[in-house]
Amino acid sequence: MPDRQAIGVLGGSFNPPHVAHLAIASDACAQLGLERVLFVPAAAPPHKDIADDVPAAVRLEMTRLAVKGDERFAVSEAEIELGLRFTSDTLAELARRHHGRPLVFIGGSDTLLQFGAWHEPETIVELARLAVAPRPGDDPRAIERAAARWGEGRVVVLSSAALGISSSMIRCRVSAGRPIRYLVPPAIERFIAEHGLYRPTSALMSERQRAERMIMERGLSDRLEAHCRGTALQAELLARRWGASPDDAAVAGLLHDLCRELTREEVLAQARKHGLEVDPIEEEYAVQLLHARVAAAQVAEAGFAPAIAEAIGRHTLAGPGMSVLDTCLFVADATEPGRTWDGVDEMRRLATESLDDAALALVERDLERLRVRGRRPHPLMLAYLEERRGRQE
Ligand SMILES: [Fe+2]
Ligand SMILES: [Fe+2]
Repeated sequence: MPDRQAIGVLGGSFNPPHVAHLAIASDACAQLGLERVLFVPAAAPPHKDIADDVPAAVRLEMTRLAVKGDERFAVSEAEIELGLRFTSDTLAELARRHHGRPLVFIGGSDTLLQFGAWHEPETIVELARLAVAPRPGDDPRAIERAAARWGEGRVVVLSSAALGISSSMIRCRVSAGRPIRYLVPPAIERFIAEHGLYRPTSALMSERQRAERMIMERGLSDRLEAHCRGTALQAELLARRWGASPDDAAVAGLLHDLCRELTREEVLAQARKHGLEVDPIEEEYAVQLLHARVAAAQVAEAGFAPAIAEAIGRHTLAGPGMSVLDTCLFVADATEPGRTWDGVDEMRRLATESLDDAALALVERDLERLRVRGRRPHPLMLAYLEERRGRQE
């Protein structure tokens, strides 16, 4: 017989809430005629560790988002507000808040099977009936036996769809970059993405993954992103050929044009922010030239190796004292697979024969283009030329 006035109580970490929570709550409503189901996020449950240190306030917010739009569902912050640790205390508090209305405590069959080990199970069963949703893999006879132990009618086994979805599975999928669409409500999917929940912490990510994340977050145009990936590929190949770190080269390639799509004002503001001294030519061609040093400052600030930042900072102008890594990036930027300028194939071939000759040829090409346009060359380009010619003599 349905408890018309009864209120369902669904406890959990809700880290994050997912569709199985909603399906169980909905089944409990339908089968037991519950007026409402309260989702009660745990403060810090004694039976489970709350993974990834997602704060209670965030789990509470996600739970609110998850139930939004279904008026049978509501969220109670009783456990978090009062720091309650035990279900018996929570149920006593909810009974008080809801003026002694009958309560039905909803849980998975795993809850029931471990129930004897809970704190004050007898009190829980006195305060609320139990509604148990079978979980995939739990033996139905074991569930029936465990249910019978708690007295006539105190435990109801729901005939709900056993969905093999758990919060830990959602967390794993997010951290592995796999989709969680249709496993959580759309609002939760968005929330997790926007707040970067459950992703591996920076310390556990490779530098390449961190660089990938950085360019994704920057929202570069498709064209520029393709250029950065091409440059990463080419820089890595050149680094293998010429004895620089392939990983550093790939990261430098990915990040070198991080600031290429900033406006002139933004580039100059970033340069000021990072305390860069800007010479008149850089000032005049801030977008074309200065994006390199501004990106270098940001990349250094993000904790990447100084050699990577250095290479990024020199990719527009070159300069004296270029390291192999610096030169790999400089040449890769002009010869990546997406480049189609006249003579690029020749330059790619030259780069496999002599990296320095390719760099020199590229600087000479840049100087020629400036000459044609009647523009002043940057002193760093001339210094590079001088150093290289001095070396050849
Ligand atoms: Fe660039
Ligand atoms: Fe570039």
